[in-house]
Amino acid sequence: MTDHSSVLQDVRQGMIPAHIYNDKEIFELEKERLFSRSWLFVAHESEVPDAGDYVVRRVLEDSFIISRDEKGEIRALFNMCLHRGMQVCRAEMGNASHFRCPYHGWSYRNDGRIVGLPFHKEAFGGEEGFRKKGQTLLPAPSLATYNGLIFISMDPDAEPLEDFLGDFKFYLDYYTKQSADGIELRGPQRWRVKANWKIGAENFAGDMYHTPQTHTSVVEIGLFREPKAEKRKDGTTYWAGNGGGTTYKLPEGSLEDRLRYVGYPDEMIGRMKEQWTQQQLDVVGKDGFMVSAASLFPNMSFVHNWPRVEEGSDEVLPFISIRMWQPISENETEVLSWFAVDKNASEEYKALSYKAYLMCFGSGGMFEQDDVENWVSLTNTAAGSMARRLLLNGRMGLLEDGQNVVEPLTAEEYSGPGSTRIGYSEYNQRELLFRWADHLERPVQAAAQLHVGIDPVQAGAVGGGDAAPAAGSAA
Ligand code: FES
Ligand code: FE
Repeated sequence: MTDHSSVLQDVRQGMIPAHIYNDKEIFELEKERLFSRSWLFVAHESEVPDAGDYVVRRVLEDSFIISRDEKGEIRALFNMCLHRGMQVCRAEMGNASHFRCPYHGWSYRNDGRIVGLPFHKEAFGGEEGFRKKGQTLLPAPSLATYNGLIFISMDPDAEPLEDFLGDFKFYLDYYTKQSADGIELRGPQRWRVKANWKIGAENFAGDMYHTPQTHTSVVEIGLFREPKAEKRKDGTTYWAGNGGGTTYKLPEGSLEDRLRYVGYPDEMIGRMKEQWTQQQLDVVGKDGFMVSAASLFPNMSFVHNWPRVEEGSDEVLPFISIRMWQPISENETEVLSWFAVDKNASEEYKALSYKAYLMCFGSGGMFEQDDVENWVSLTNTAAGSMARRLLLNGRMGLLEDGQNVVEPLTAEEYSGPGSTRIGYSEYNQRELLFRWADHLERPVQAAAQLHVGIDPVQAGAVGGGDAAPAAGSAA
């Protein structure tokens, strides 16, 4: 394989070799060294509220059944039969106490344990030949949740999820904890775009700079209360823990005034005041910033926005979307986009917020369409030979000597954690790519293989007719 050290070196200086957005070898490296050990979002607990509920989600080529077992525990089970590898669950979501493999009929409880094995005695010699006890569909090596968001990692030694999230948790709460009961999700809508997965993650992490250009028409038709797309430059970008995002500057007023300006009804504001820490409330009420888009490394993003939902009315209404940029290849991404809303919001609010989401960021949303055209075009252009000669300029916010154009905000100016600046910059996109480079340069250990139903030391050698004792066996 090509030596990619110069690519990683360039990225660390904010210069981006253009081909990283459409390069087969780089994608192989991402699979081997990044997606094999990072924490990855797969589902939200509200998608599997009751015992037996499940959804099937993928991490690259690996399919997982995310189920809630009879005891109420969340499981992430590798969706591959222990016998000869058939996909055990073929539906996308449902409720089941058991999963039966369509190939030869082995069956598993919704916690993964084998329960049924047709002709166990005749075909395998019963428990003596193949111990069912203790055999389960392979669990994801690591699983953890935060605010109901379910993450898995292919690394059994992954750092604790809370450590990985770090100070990004502070910002996650605005999207996922507006009341004690958290959010519920609708979706996901799924579609594929012929674009590299990194572009969406970078865009949502910090690209306030594209709004005035790419989304001019959406602002011009009056979808937003702010008449100018340039208003984005008055907001901040923040980077905290392993995630970062952007905020909007709100007009002067009290905390309540500012939350009302975004469109939250008073009953929801009351719950936010109970739920959020003083520091979280201060970012909005004292400093006057409201979170907008964000990304969590490597490929999860969030949106919070407040368009006008009724034509001719001055009322706006907020919506939240959670999304995954699921890589299919170096030039194709499956987008999974969920609508998220406070569980305790009124039905009327939920319906209108869902409408706001669909208008802006559903599969046919106006922003979505604007954005994707850029990303597809960029990906296509990155495939050619000229792209291999081009270092893109990803240094916005830095002077040539590496000094900042604008210094980070002080604790007086901004109450939230992380590194925060007003105005356009690409600090967040660089933070994502720095982490990407850190993974890509670190080799991975080969994962341990798991043997199913047999003790590899005791197992007889296979071959000829009669099994001979295996080397190392006591027999
Ligand atoms: Fe599943 Fe044989 S492959 S039962
Ligand atoms: Fe956009």
